[in-house]
Amino acid sequence: MAILPIRTVPDPVLRQKAKRVKTIDGSIQKLIENMLETLHAAPWRAGLAAPQVGTSLRVIVIDIPEAKDIVLINPEIVKRSGERSLTEGCLSVPGYYGEIKRAEQVTVKGRDVRGKEIRIKGDELLAQALEHEIDHLNGVLYIDHLESQDKLYKTEDETTQP
Ligand code: NI
Repeated sequence: MAILPIRTVPDPVLRQKAKRVKTIDGSIQKLIENMLETLHAAPWRAGLAAPQVGTSLRVIVIDIPEAKDIVLINPEIVKRSGERSLTEGCLSVPGYYGEIKRAEQVTVKGRDVRGKEIRIKGDELLAQALEHEIDHLNGVLYIDHLESQDKLYKTEDETTQP
């Protein structure tokens, strides 16, 4: 296992549409192990998408108190409901956070590390993390959802996030 460097803006890999994983083989399992280790070592955490470690494949990991070490391969949002304003940051946009709108609840389907189809229904922080990480797979960053640039703020300390 290894802690991988996290790509930050304006790295072009963050703007690519990631490719679907066709076969969950050893290289994908290794990528997932490394992504989890990298996420656990991050100064603050919610989730990580493969493009953030330089691999343009549709893989995300999430680690929050209510959802530990969730792995999703080829995740897709199948249902979105509600809308709310919240603050958000991203390891690939260090030193900033912003105010955006996200769904209140999302349902996502994808495959786990063994290839089994799974469905996750999330609200609150889990819904936010799922939308945020799946956005990364489409080359989208939370800063794209800002209503205006004055909704983007500098953090005083880069190791903390809202
Ligand atoms: Ni992010």
